[in-house]
Amino acid sequence: MGRRIESLMNNVRQIHRFVRVSGVRPVRFAGSTILNFVSSLLEGISIGLIIPLLDIIMRRGETPLLAQISPLNAMIGLLPERRLKYVFFTVLGCLFGAIAIKHFFIYYSDLLVSKISRAAEQSLRVKIFNGYLGYSKIAFDRARIGHLTDLATSQVIYACDVFRYGHNFLLYGFMLTVHLMIMCVISWKLTLVSFLFIPFIYLALRMIAQKIKFSTQFKFKADQELNAYLHDSLSNMALIHSYTNEAAESRRYESMSEKSRQSLHSIWKKILFAPHIQEVILAFTISVLISVCVFIFLRGSAALGFSSFLTFFVFLRRFSTSVTACGTCVAEISKSFEPMGRILQMLENQEAYSIKNGATPFSGLESDIEFRNVSFAYEETRILDSVSVTFEKNKMTAILGPTGSGKTTLIHLIPRFYDPTGGTIRLNGRPLQEYDLRSLRRKIALVSQDTQIFNTSIRENIVYGLETHVSQEALDNVVKKSYLYDFIMSLPARYETLVGESGVRLSGGEKQRLAIARALLKNPDVFVFDEATSSLDMETELSIQRSVDELTKGKTVIVIAHRLSTIRNADTLVVLEKGKVTEQGKFSDLVRKEGRFRHYWSFQNID
Ligand SMILES: Nc1ncnc2c1ncn2[C@@H]1O[C@H](COP(=O)(O)OP(=O)(O)OP(=O)(O)O)[C@@H](O)[C@H]1O
Ligand SMILES: [Mg+2]
Repeated sequence: MGRRIESLMNNVRQIHRFVRVSGVRPVRFAGSTILNFVSSLLEGISIGLIIPLLDIIMRRGETPLLAQISPLNAMIGLLPERRLKYVFFTVLGCLFGAIAIKHFFIYYSDLLVSKISRAAEQSLRVKIFNGYLGYSKIAFDRARIGHLTDLATSQVIYACDVFRYGHNFLLYGFMLTVHLMIMCVISWKLTLVSFLFIPFIYLALRMIAQKIKFSTQFKFKADQELNAYLHDSLSNMALIHSYTNEAAESRRYESMSEKSRQSLHSIWKKILFAPHIQEVILAFTISVLISVCVFIFLRGSAALGFSSFLTFFVFLRRFSTSVTACGTCVAEISKSFEPMGRILQMLENQEAYSIKNGATPFSGLESDIEFRNVSFAYEETRILDSVSVTFEKNKMTAILGPTGSGKTTLIHLIPRFYDPTGGTIRLNGRPLQEYDLRSLRRKIALVSQDTQIFNTSIRENIVYGLETHVSQEALDNVVKKSYLYDFIMSLPARYETLVGESGVRLSGGEKQRLAIARALLKNPDVFVFDEATSSLDMETELSIQRSVDELTKGKTVIVIAHRLSTIRNADTLVVLEKGKVTEQGKFSDLVRKEGRFRHYWSFQNID
């Protein structure tokens, strides 16, 4: 019993946390709760009016059961015959009015809750998306994009179902209370007998709700996997086609989809079963009650009139419908716990997924960027091992080294995509972590190895993230420097041409030039180029380098490149091997030395 209360309290606490996180103020439920309460009273009134209505009809038939209990009946008995029909229609009108108003109130209260639900969905979607924007790169590296999209879309909808079903639960809860109270007024003894079935219904419902909760965990997991797989397959369609693996992929998708179907079917089996088991238990109870009533009537000791008996059964029927509806709501709410838990886990633990922000605004680079004994590991394996380098202010530093030696990892530490696991990075003499991330990143332009392009127009991709308006002249100028101008002018929609998913409609070299144009337009203090020209032909690469050299003059530039042509102009070279700096110095010095640089670059005829 204690465990059950504890579990119930946990569920209530979880709903409370979810309401808070979704930004819905509890006071917003006041309107719908009041409407629900009034609707329940109107339900009681409308059914209760059946008693006088029947009595009026039965007085006409001169039934021996006329002398009845209620004062209203006594009043009806005193009325003259000709006024009876007015009373009859008045009561009928009240009954109809009560039903009509009740339904209007229920509709309006449903509408209020639907509005709250949609607002909560919208607020949660935005919060989750903002949460993703604050995620550190390592959190993304570990996540599956399909899982992340699933959380922000279908799981939000499932979780917000708690508002609708919670509201319905309250409505039917009020109704069954009103039914119960009126049933007690009509006959507390019969009400007591009716209660025989309550424990059975409760036990059946509890069992079903637990099973639903358990099955939904499987369902959401299966759905997440399905979405993640779909995302993966759609992103790698060219690979699937070139390896003609369509049949295997189709089988895999079908088997995952089958798992989702099975778990959903298992949930629905329980949801659909719940009302029927309740109805069977209720039918049994009604049979018992009818037997009791018939027995009382046959013995001639009936304390109630026929109309009251009939109304009692109508109330009992409505009561059982309300109990069934409450049960269905509980079952539906059980489905929401799993997605609610996932959303809460994500939104309440933002710090665990994001990089801690610093307080000092970064106003610009005033001195060198210093790495002191910096180490880094993604997981267990050390990728950078006690790296000490200085990227001089307003100079160009080139990083070179074999593939997988940690070059990209090293430069990703500067805009704090990752934080070092050991050592410090200093900017203007202060540790990097002390700076406000936004202001820091605004002063750094990174052209990454895998070019990132949005599925928008060329213009939007180039001016991306700029807060000030960019004139057409400035845009043309930077595009010309990136050797992209002629290409853009040859397109039918020029700057407004859509580039497709991940820039699929552009060639590798065009994408790289677009990314360079974007960085040049940003005009930051620090430029970081990670093999930014690797897809270009030699001639274009040399031309772009000349432009980039010109536009980045007086800026701090860090460049990762394999080609000799790119690094020749660098003021300093840093050779990175297996996460360690093995050599650094000027090009002319390193070329003369019989060291790692010479060995590494001997393949490119440096002589
Ligand atoms: N997100 C990640 N999670 C785990 N390991 C990673 C991650 N990114 C890179 N690595 C590993 O870290 C090592 C260094 O990778 P990095 O990308 O820094 O190399 P690189 O020198 O830039 O290589 P390349 O010249 O091929 O671009 C590699 O062994 C790689 O497998
Ligand atoms: Mg790299």
